[in-house]
Amino acid sequence: MKRIAVLTSGGDAPGMNAAIRAVVRSGLDAGWEVIGIRRGFAGLVEGEFIELNDRDVGGIMQRGGTMLGSARSAEFRTDAGRAKALTHLQAYGVQALFVIGGNGSQTGAYALSQQGFPVVGIASTIDNDLVGSDITIGVDTALNIALEAIDRLKTTASSHQRAFLVETMGRNHGYLALASGLAGGAEAVVLPEIEVDPDEIAIQLRRAYERGKAHAIVVVAEGARYNAEAMLQHFELNRETIGFELRVTKLGHVQRGGIPGAFDRLLASQLGAAAVQRFAAGEHNMLIGQVGGRLASTPLAEIAGRQKPLDTKLIELIRVLAR
Ligand code: F6P
Repeated sequence: MKRIAVLTSGGDAPGMNAAIRAVVRSGLDAGWEVIGIRRGFAGLVEGEFIELNDRDVGGIMQRGGTMLGSARSAEFRTDAGRAKALTHLQAYGVQALFVIGGNGSQTGAYALSQQGFPVVGIASTIDNDLVGSDITIGVDTALNIALEAIDRLKTTASSHQRAFLVETMGRNHGYLALASGLAGGAEAVVLPEIEVDPDEIAIQLRRAYERGKAHAIVVVAEGARYNAEAMLQHFELNRETIGFELRVTKLGHVQRGGIPGAFDRLLASQLGAAAVQRFAAGEHNMLIGQVGGRLASTPLAEIAGRQKPLDTKLIELIRVLAR
């Protein structure tokens, strides 16, 4: 009989609970024991292990967040921290660790695999920045939250003929800003990956005003050099005339909270179950994701420390469609 362990790590994402449930119940279905680790790699270093059975993961898939808790652990990034983690895993007789998380978490999983411990990654982050998965658990729900906010802002913006700078999450990656900008009908997007001249944004806004638009939206990622605050400051300092009155709305962690949508529950259930099945079939040290609409596994060595590139053609599409 095998004994596996599961943790959630990094920023939480709606759908993580459905992934935990899928790993636990698929593992139990295979006749294995399943251990849950609290607070991600931080709990792994501290040995916060709990046994999980069928009922422990009942009624969780419709809840946001993660029932195991999550953290970003500085200690796990040190040799001493990883050594402590390995000691706990061995003491509990764990044969594989399932890591539900994004870029930093899968890089941590890879580090553990390099020390000879089998790991299986499950692609989960609202940032959608993981190589090895076209879409990750949490993105769809986070995007829908951003879209609801943009739709609401557009109604009040139209009443007052205002422009809004809407700031999404995304410290290093602009996917959320790009996708919500396109689906939300923004004038422009500002992303961490691409240098943007704020004067150009001011010109775009002014032209939109002159074309008689009732409102205008610019979606800005928090990690962009000119995020919402920096952009506003620049406009004020340079006394840019954009026609519209300007307001800023920062969506922040609202995008990570709340009930996971159908897409994320479906994706999480399938990725969690596939992770267990592929490990049972002898695979490990890979990330389970979705590529071209199918479940796919990619070696962690190809994922660690890398960031999925953005489809930058969409920036031009946003501009064209904002006529
Ligand atoms: O990685 C997910 C994410 O939500 C990023 O979009 C964001 O930049 C970061 O986490 C925020 O981190 P924290 O929750 O630690 O403030």
